[in-house]
Amino acid sequence: MGVSVRKFGETGDGQAVSCYRMEAEGAFAEVLDYGCTVHRLVVPDRQGQMVDVCLGYDTVAEYQENDGYLGAVIGRHANRIGGSRFELNGNMYPVAANDGENHLHGGIRGFDKYIWQAEMLGDGVKFFRHFPDGDEGYPGGLNVWVTYRFEPGRRFTLRYEAVCDADTVINMTNHCYFNLNGSGSGDVLGQELQLNADFYTPNSPGCLPDGRVLPVDGTVFDFRAGKALGRDLEADEPQLAAVGGFDHNFILRGRGMRAAGVLRSPDTGICMEIATTQPGLQVYTGNVLTARRGKGGAAYGVHHAVCLETQHFPNSMNLSQFPSVVLRRGERYDETTAYTFGNTGGGRG
Ligand code: BGC
Repeated sequence: MGVSVRKFGETGDGQAVSCYRMEAEGAFAEVLDYGCTVHRLVVPDRQGQMVDVCLGYDTVAEYQENDGYLGAVIGRHANRIGGSRFELNGNMYPVAANDGENHLHGGIRGFDKYIWQAEMLGDGVKFFRHFPDGDEGYPGGLNVWVTYRFEPGRRFTLRYEAVCDADTVINMTNHCYFNLNGSGSGDVLGQELQLNADFYTPNSPGCLPDGRVLPVDGTVFDFRAGKALGRDLEADEPQLAAVGGFDHNFILRGRGMRAAGVLRSPDTGICMEIATTQPGLQVYTGNVLTARRGKGGAAYGVHHAVCLETQHFPNSMNLSQFPSVVLRRGERYDETTAYTFGNTGGGRG
């Protein structure tokens, strides 16, 4: 148990970036105050070897220069807002367009591209930052807290809290790229995902939900019994072909903090259970992760990781049938996700 801090580097304009390390039961997580970025998640495999199960970079410059949001916190609104505009209280708000005509992951300078104030806790770190009224086009001055803890049982928790001085929208997530065989070990197509999701939201062009809610039953989107991520990737399914893999929002069963699913590697035996308070989870199989050099010079390519982004559904402001992402003035936004690491043994290795 315990938390320590070290200097990680500097931004291009000379601001110091720190790295916080939190340990639990022989495993540890390292997070940066730049973008509340999860830099390393190191857990034992079935033979007791330590494996860093998330992708990242070695330097601040690479985190600043590269897109892909490796390990970063995402806000004010995760994923896409169609047409980069939404209506709230009868007013139309244009937000920054940074993905063709659409708004993606909070805009040109989202939550991921700032240094946050940090407060060390006994088992974690709490980050804070204020985002002014009009930031990337969003209404209202917003105070945001992101708390990471590494708890007994190797449970890594991510809690997002926010309060605004006017009505606004908020939808936060973390953009960790997981590979339970280790960062830079190749593709994740043999890793098995199980999801407690009976429905998903199909995409229209531009990777935006088209507003429908469809059952996963009998489709490539059925992860309820668990299956290898690569099993159906070559299936004759236009939804997959359109985005080069999975890049879809799944509707999680139940409410409140509950189990959302599990990712397992038959090679290392590492498994990661996901629990969350959020209604949805975006499965993104690193479809545009090409030709990047990551930690330790690792070559990152297409499908070399999977993001499991717990969230509210993309484009919710323009699809009123989806759960609301409106945060009213003075109300408190409070969402938690936990990734718990274990080791199943069995299988190959
Ligand atoms: C989105 C992808 C996008 C990626 C960017 C994911 O959350 O769903 O469409 O390409 O983030 O790294």
